[in-house]
Amino acid sequence: MASASDSAYDWDALRAVALSAMEKAYVPYSKFPVGVAAIVDDGRIISGCNVENASYGLTLCAECTLVSTLHMTGGGKLVAFTCVDGNGGALMPCGRCRQLLYEHSAEGMLLETVSGIKTIDEVIPDAFGPRTLAAYHNAE
Ligand code: THU
Repeated sequence: MASASDSAYDWDALRAVALSAMEKAYVPYSKFPVGVAAIVDDGRIISGCNVENASYGLTLCAECTLVSTLHMTGGGKLVAFTCVDGNGGALMPCGRCRQLLYEHSAEGMLLETVSGIKTIDEVIPDAFGPRTLAAYHNAE
């Protein structure tokens, strides 16, 4: 369930940024544009769209471009995230992208999903991540 702090974010404004990113999607193959937007822990708003490839498996999900943008514009951790399809409807990030988002999430990061506002831990429970590797190496 959503954290008590979900109302701290302007989800309508964030979704508008995702919609505008979605318009830039390069999707000649699937014709399924995706736009994402996120708030970074320093207040920055970043976004991304999917970029496909004739070699289909090389397609970059919208979340990939968002994560690249995160680092290209100063790094930090994601605190809130939304994802929309070509109709502007909420879209659940694919499994790979949940893992991508987890890596760069602030503790308690919130996502607008098809079933309401959820935390990153709810959408990728018991995730493998940076702390898994650190715990392994600390135990050596
Ligand atoms: N897609 C994303 O960009 N993000 C997701 O989380 C789900 C899928 C894209 C990849 C591909 O360009 C299109 O949606 C259809 O699979």
